Amino acid sequence: MIPPIINVKDIGYIYPDGNEALNKVSFNVSRNEAFGIIGPNGAGKSTLLQLLIGILIPRSGEIKIEGMPVDKKNLALIRKKTGLLFHNPDDQLFCPTVRDDIAFGPRNMGLNNDEIEICVSQAMEASGTGHLSHRPPYTLSGGEKKAVALACILSMQPEILLMDETSANLDPGSRRQLITVINTLSQTKIIVSHDLDFIWETCSRVMILNKGSITAAGETGLILSDRFLLEHNNLELPLRLQGCPVCGSYTVRG
Ligand SMILES: Nc1ncnc2c1ncn2[C@@H]1O[C@H](COP(=O)(O)OP(=O)(O)OP(=O)(O)O)[C@@H](O)[C@H]1O
Ligand SMILES: [Mg+2]
Repeated sequence: MIPPIINVKDIGYIYPDGNEALNKVSFNVSRNEAFGIIGPNGAGKSTLLQLLIGILIPRSGEIKIEGMPVDKKNLALIRKKTGLLFHNPDDQLFCPTVRDDIAFGPRNMGLNNDEIEICVSQAMEASGTGHLSHRPPYTLSGGEKKAVALACILSMQPEILLMDETSANLDPGSRRQLITVINTLSQTKIIVSHDLDFIWETCSRVMILNKGSITAAGETGLILSDRFLLEHNNLELPLRLQGCPVCGSYTVRG
């Protein structure tokens, strides 16, 4: 049997002020899988992503990436393999121009100028950010910043992509483009979102977190069509399953 690329066992996390964010959370993610994490505000989703990349260290339990424990000793290697797209793109953009920001990761990894150029061009093409290349990031709109932050992660070609609310604030066209990009990326992906239609179109499996614990996990179609389960977790059926309020008909895509 192929071992999972991400193995999370019984992790717990309590913030320094005493807020318990996660309690005995366990799950595995297979290589090249697209795994969704959903749940109400404050469920612990963003905390979990930060634990996976070692920004936070669990109080209890263990996380392994490719069999390596996420600890201080392995942190540099884990960060090379794993890219986190933060909820707020302002946390990710700090260079004078968009191109500098996208080139920052590959340069930091010690690539030469030709290699950096290839990584930057590919990332800009995949994220549709070429036209923003010379703009200072702080002048961009919220959606444009999200696309550039995605390019910053893609330019480092991580094996695992962690995405926190990546579709929020995107216009419908940009959201659709993001879905296409995500579905063409072969990397292992963990996608956190309140946009359940976005999860429906990008993830094969999904887990619900609520108050720091897993309340359900399974095949996306099964979990996201269970009205009772979703409502019990302060969620709603994806729009595609809600039916037209006028004629009652359904449009199921993807
Ligand atoms: N820096 C912090 N210090 C103390 N408590 C925190 C901190 N960050 C988050 N928390 C708490 O930890 C819990 C989990 O927060 P987290 O941000 O992981 O939730 P989330 O599922 O990502 O929510 P949302 O959907 O609103 O983004 C919440 O109770 C939150 O108030
Ligand atoms: Mg969050």
